[in-house]
Amino acid sequence: MRNVLFVTSSLLGENAKSRQVGAELVARVGGTHARVVERHLTPDNIPHLTLETLGALGVAADQRSPVQSAAVQFADQIIEEVEAADVIVIGAPMYNFSIPSTLKAWFDYIARAGRTFKYTANGPEGQLKGKKIYVIASRGGYYTGESPARGMDFQEPYIRGFWGFLGVTDVNFIHVEGQAIGGEAAAKGVAAARTAVEKIELPALAA
Ligand SMILES: Cc1cc2nc3c(=O)[nH]c(=O)nc-3n(C[C@H](O)[C@H](O)[C@H](O)COP(=O)(O)O)c2cc1C
Repeated sequence: MRNVLFVTSSLLGENAKSRQVGAELVARVGGTHARVVERHLTPDNIPHLTLETLGALGVAADQRSPVQSAAVQFADQIIEEVEAADVIVIGAPMYNFSIPSTLKAWFDYIARAGRTFKYTANGPEGQLKGKKIYVIASRGGYYTGESPARGMDFQEPYIRGFWGFLGVTDVNFIHVEGQAIGGEAAAKGVAAARTAVEKIELPALAA
């Protein structure tokens, strides 16, 4: 059984291209024998990490207040979903040259010292090795190839750097570019992403 975690972060919800292409990718990599967990991030369901939550993580389980227990339960669930996943599909639109704040808030829960990374004598060591990540990176403009805006892409290098720090190096990007141009250019961007998704092959799973 393959475990797939599907995370999206566009404020357009189900209308987002990053979510629509992501869903096609999930169907492709999951096949019929997958357990898929979906987490569609919105400002209402992924609170910023707070001092209270950070503090609660340091309190022994039997000493926590009900509020602290709920905060730790939420924070742990976010990490458990990531730890359980073999494949993670992330819908990540480019917002102001980087990622949506909801996705950043999700990242803030995932990077936890002593759990998803550890400080060793040789420096920090990621603990999430062996996972495969696909990122559907949608953009209004163009940031690939010879685009003059290439240097403004703080989305892809940041996402790669973040997961690399946690030990995940198999991070694959599918770009959906030109979405703010509209018309044919936008349709072409989606078609190119769909073609890329169709080419993805993962080993078949036993029933
Ligand atoms: C708040 C916000 C900020 C954006 N910033 C950028 C940007 O910096 N560069 C860019 O190319 N497009 C930017 N866009 C456009 C989106 O990246 C583009 O529309 C993308 O297709 C949205 O993907 P989605 O359909 O998956 O939501 C921005 C859109 C929003 C809503």
